Amino acid sequence: MKKFPEGFYFGAATSSHQVEGGCVNDWSVWEKQNAERLASESVKYSSLPSWNSIKDKAMDPRNYISGVAADHFNRYEEDFDIAKKIGLNAYRFSIEWSRIEPEPGRWNENAIDHYKAMVLALRKRKIEPFVTIWHWTLPLWLSDTGGIMNKDFPVLFARYSQKLAQAFGSDVRYYIIINEPEIYALNSYMLGIWPPQKKGIVSYIRAMKILVRSHRLASAAIKQENSTAMTGPACNMSFFESGGGVNRIFTYFAERFWNRHFISRTLKYNDFIGINYYFHNRINYGLNRNANEKVSDMGWELYPQGIENIVMGMTGYGLPLFVTESGLADTDDRYRPWYIEETLRSLYRTIERGADLHGYLHWALLDNFEWDKGFWPGFGLVAVDRKTMKRTPRRASVDTYRRIITKGLDI
Ligand code: BGC
Repeated sequence: MKKFPEGFYFGAATSSHQVEGGCVNDWSVWEKQNAERLASESVKYSSLPSWNSIKDKAMDPRNYISGVAADHFNRYEEDFDIAKKIGLNAYRFSIEWSRIEPEPGRWNENAIDHYKAMVLALRKRKIEPFVTIWHWTLPLWLSDTGGIMNKDFPVLFARYSQKLAQAFGSDVRYYIIINEPEIYALNSYMLGIWPPQKKGIVSYIRAMKILVRSHRLASAAIKQENSTAMTGPACNMSFFESGGGVNRIFTYFAERFWNRHFISRTLKYNDFIGINYYFHNRINYGLNRNANEKVSDMGWELYPQGIENIVMGMTGYGLPLFVTESGLADTDDRYRPWYIEETLRSLYRTIERGADLHGYLHWALLDNFEWDKGFWPGFGLVAVDRKTMKRTPRRASVDTYRRIITKGLDI
């Protein structure tokens, strides 16, 4: 049996809008305006193997409104007990900016106290909090004045970050400043899929520039309050595999552009690199994302072993590494146990190969609101009944994860 190093973080992750319930922000407004359209467009998934089991949910507009989500805002103690039972010693969650700063410059002390209580509830259970400062949702006053394109955005973001660092003090050590800046810029400012549905390469580039600047300012602001805080981003990184020949050159540039752009532009401001892994991109005179018969409920290819290459690729920066997300939509829990085991096997190999890897945070602890896909994808280690909010651990996955945490891997 091979055990991970002492102190390795085994965790799970969520984000505020996806699990808390009761959020009022740019997404909650957008969802209501787009639920009918998203439900009717879901027929585009009818060729998925999972279609029969997801179609009722996917075609129901009510499932595209986050509403009470998983009611994690009220049930976090219960959820942390479940996390503890799984054997987790780390939990990543995000702070909902719209709660903390409901009007420009006005801080909601009750909301701050709520998140402080969450941090203490984790500490009480010996679970390390990994706080995401921004996981894409904006207070309405900010989205109404341009969102990230508001010329003051970086400064406002740094001020909000500083407020959090001041409130948490030494109780929070790890801050993930921005979640997947590249996915936000892509979906919200290039492809026009997510709010504010802007399109074009120019707005994508502008968005990335703004997020780089915001990240830098926020990191400096956090350090002013807590000089020992560890700050970093969680970047979406794909495993790029070349089909050979000239594809190697395309692969090289695709990897540099997608996996490294944000990291290299914020390097001096990072104490760690957070890796979110979902996609295997084969480059063979074009992009092929689905050359494998194993797919998730969302049709994403399942290729857990790709994470080894990504982690090894990041070692050159000389910073501690964390897998801040990796997981799959798998309501029936057919592939998740295997996926978790293969991921951890790959990660174990990276440590043997010298990677300074400190943790793995599975996405997600709970079934949650999957953005423009609503509630039909089931990402949770723990299933959540939409009517009763009853939590039911997905047994096979949870048992696999617990076994590896406590006993190790047999390799
Ligand atoms: C995001 C999560 C999302 C997950 C699954 C990541 O890109 O950070 O919010 O739920 O992927 O799609």
